[in-house]
Amino acid sequence: MAKRVAIIGAGISGLLACKYTLEKGFRPVVLESKGGIGGVWAQTLETTKLQTPKLVYEFSDFPWPSTVKEEFPNSNQIMEYLELYARKFDLLRHIKFNSKVIGIDYEGTSNDEILSWSLWGGTGEAFGPRGKWNITVQEANTESTQVYEAEFVILCIGRYSDLPNIPVFPENRGPEVFDGNVIHAMDYSAMDNATAAEFIKGKRVTVVGFQKSALDIASECAKANGVKHPCTVLYRTEHWSMPNYLPWGVPLALLYLNRFSEFMIHKPGEGFLLFLLATLLSPLVFGISSLYNSIVCYCRECIHPRIPQLAIIGYSESLANLYTSEMRCRWLAHLLDGSFKLPCISDMEKDIARWENFMKRYSGRYFRGSCLGVVHIWYNDQLCKDMGCNPKRKNGLLGELFEPYGPADYRDLSPIESSK
Ligand SMILES: Cc1cc2nc3c(=O)[nH]c(=O)nc-3n(C[C@H](O)[C@H](O)[C@H](O)COP(=O)(O)OP(=O)(O)OC[C@H]3O[C@@H](n4cnc5c(N)ncnc54)[C@H](O)[C@@H]3O)c2cc1C
Ligand SMILES: NC(=O)c1ccc[n+]([C@@H]2O[C@H](COP(=O)([O-])OP(=O)(O)OC[C@H]3O[C@@H](n4cnc5c(N)ncnc54)[C@H](OP(=O)(O)O)[C@@H]3O)[C@@H](O)[C@H]2O)c1
Repeated sequence: MAKRVAIIGAGISGLLACKYTLEKGFRPVVLESKGGIGGVWAQTLETTKLQTPKLVYEFSDFPWPSTVKEEFPNSNQIMEYLELYARKFDLLRHIKFNSKVIGIDYEGTSNDEILSWSLWGGTGEAFGPRGKWNITVQEANTESTQVYEAEFVILCIGRYSDLPNIPVFPENRGPEVFDGNVIHAMDYSAMDNATAAEFIKGKRVTVVGFQKSALDIASECAKANGVKHPCTVLYRTEHWSMPNYLPWGVPLALLYLNRFSEFMIHKPGEGFLLFLLATLLSPLVFGISSLYNSIVCYCRECIHPRIPQLAIIGYSESLANLYTSEMRCRWLAHLLDGSFKLPCISDMEKDIARWENFMKRYSGRYFRGSCLGVVHIWYNDQLCKDMGCNPKRKNGLLGELFEPYGPADYRDLSPIESSK
């Protein structure tokens, strides 16, 4: 049977999915609605930089160019890095730009049959015996539609592209009664820098929200208008934003990105020893609940147990999303080439419930988004075990306990037997 793979989106996740499926011998087609790669990084505020140090926002086998000295590169530098990566691994020729996916339909198996399966896709393997996806694509330049067929779809459409989150206002109490402009942060980011600066110049601006975009826009307003037209920030939930990656003068990586820090918390699926350790060390956990917030409904955060032949990369987030998407794409490429099978659906559902309970336990009132928080080593361990790779990537016990983990640790990841 043909094994056609379609990837939707050419942001970081789509590029990674393309690279790792190519490595396994597939010839994927990447469908991207915009005219270029990069996803969210292609259109940002003038002041937007990485908020994650570049060492953990790096492709494992493609370091940042030595010309980028900054620890937090800006969006232009990030775009250049992504373009270099796409060229290095010859990804561009697999991407169809200006191709917006407007529908995907699964064909070949009835809903009743799907509901009767005890294994994902009926077999636990990536490619089912009969089913395929029909992907309807609208081409931007011609407005015509075309249907692509694929035996496997990888959704890499991100969480912050195209669909602004705008509340529904009660009648006559929304923007229509306001004698001014109401726009979403996405529209503001889409303006070129000069237009955006002109748009806020001399205006009284109210920013709704208290997360990163809101604070960045407030800071651009403050810069443009000073004390003459101070901007107002309206928020419903206060969020603790870390000023930088050196809380109390200690590098964040030492606090959160090593195995020792993960010992302090209970982890989904932990054994008795780890449970005991987490219970004993729990008094040391301080102020990290906002780093966990999640609604998880995917196995390994990628696969919905009841949706066959489809994976989602980049929906659930982490502290360093590039790194997380890369690990998932490697895992998925192994699943696609049949290196391992998924457990039965009921086990997948139990595992998902364990992760969800874990997230609820630690995120408290912040439980809403979808973020791995600081259990990413534990999470990567599960991916490594599925792939048959050694999850312990450091030299010696001390290194294993206290050295921060990052993308470079997984550079030479290969199954234990084949690396012998
Ligand atoms: C302003 C901003 C700054 C950020 N800073 C950081 C940071 O410092 N550190 C960090 O870890 N994370 C950061 N993030 C999170 C960021 O989303 C991820 O790091 C990462 O870039 C997401 O990549 P992605 O490919 O999963 O999604 P996206 O970048 O959103 O890419 C999705 C792609 O899919 C395409 N697409 C969507 N729908 C369709 C469709 N129907 N048909 C065809 N194509 C489609 C889009 O056009 C887009 O190109 C930031 C996010 C934003 C918005
Ligand atoms: N690298 C960078 O510098 C940078 C810059 C911008 C964004 N980002 C990243 O991009 C992602 C998105 O960030 P974001 O700030 O755009 O979005 P976000 O994190 O989803 O925050 C949205 C904000 O809007 C508020 N809000 C939403 N609906 C509301 C409503 N109906 N009424 C009142 N308030 C409402 C939320 O309040 P509640 O909390 O109460 O829901 C929250 O404060 C994040 O991952 C962020 O880290 C990074």
